[in-house]
Amino acid sequence: MLHNAGSLNIDDVFQVTHIVRPGETIPSQTMNRFAGGKGLNQSMALARAGVRVRHIGLIGEDGVFLRDILENNGVNVSGIKISKLPTGHAIIQVAADGENSIILYSGANQNWGRQDVQRIRYDVQSRDILLLQNEINMLPELIRTAHEAGLRIAMNPAPMGPEVKDYPLEHLSWLIVNEIEGRELAGIDIDEQGGNGGEEEVVAELHRRYPGTVIVMTLGKRGAIRMDGIGLIRSFFPDVGPIVDTTGAGDSFIGYLLAGEIFGLSREEGLRRACAAGALSVTRKGAAISMPRWAEVDALIL
Ligand code: RIB
Repeated sequence: MLHNAGSLNIDDVFQVTHIVRPGETIPSQTMNRFAGGKGLNQSMALARAGVRVRHIGLIGEDGVFLRDILENNGVNVSGIKISKLPTGHAIIQVAADGENSIILYSGANQNWGRQDVQRIRYDVQSRDILLLQNEINMLPELIRTAHEAGLRIAMNPAPMGPEVKDYPLEHLSWLIVNEIEGRELAGIDIDEQGGNGGEEEVVAELHRRYPGTVIVMTLGKRGAIRMDGIGLIRSFFPDVGPIVDTTGAGDSFIGYLLAGEIFGLSREEGLRRACAAGALSVTRKGAAISMPRWAEVDALIL
């Protein structure tokens, strides 16, 4: 079983020609409300990949429909509680080229207390996995508690903030970052030419600091690299046609990467499948709703 202690957000998505600039007012062609939040999206990707996943999180009264969506997609929602604060809320602009820009109100996601942290101990067996992102509070406590309980921990420290460097990351079994997060954590900037050089040094540096941790770094359209005790491997995003909406692509990647680990796929096969799942999600609008099913990923890569 995988336990995901993660955010749940209401995503209000505006389709625009370009991301609004300071002082500018622009029209939006459409406005849609979707289920989102990095936590919820990753639970959805895992469930659609066929993993048994329990979501642990907080919503307000206004977010009960998010719990229903997860449940209807096969996620165990026994760990989702109603808080006094409103549900987390994201205002998302999606530009014509599929790129996005997000304003995030944390709401109930940042209302975790000490008792909530203890909830991750319920219904767990040693070697189960706890998945975390950086959209809830109490993360150092969650990492330490999970480590003491013998859980393997996967973390996607997004959205990145300076506090992440102080988390006990040495307890992680998997650290999954994008290039900005990876460079920030490793303290390695973009190379002098502004190019992409040095990405292998970034994962090598992170692996040197956390030798017991599998380091995976996504590289946008260029795919992803993985560094572990065996060495470095790379996989590419397959060509899936026009990009519609990049929101949630990283979440799709993470769900499938962990599904690969749980199902015992080889490192190469797991990374390839995660890249394919990330690529498929950008061909669809919305975040959680864009997560592909296992058979759809099969159809793309087999
Ligand atoms: O990763 C995408 C997610 O980031 C969105 O669903 C939004 O809610 C923000 O948390």
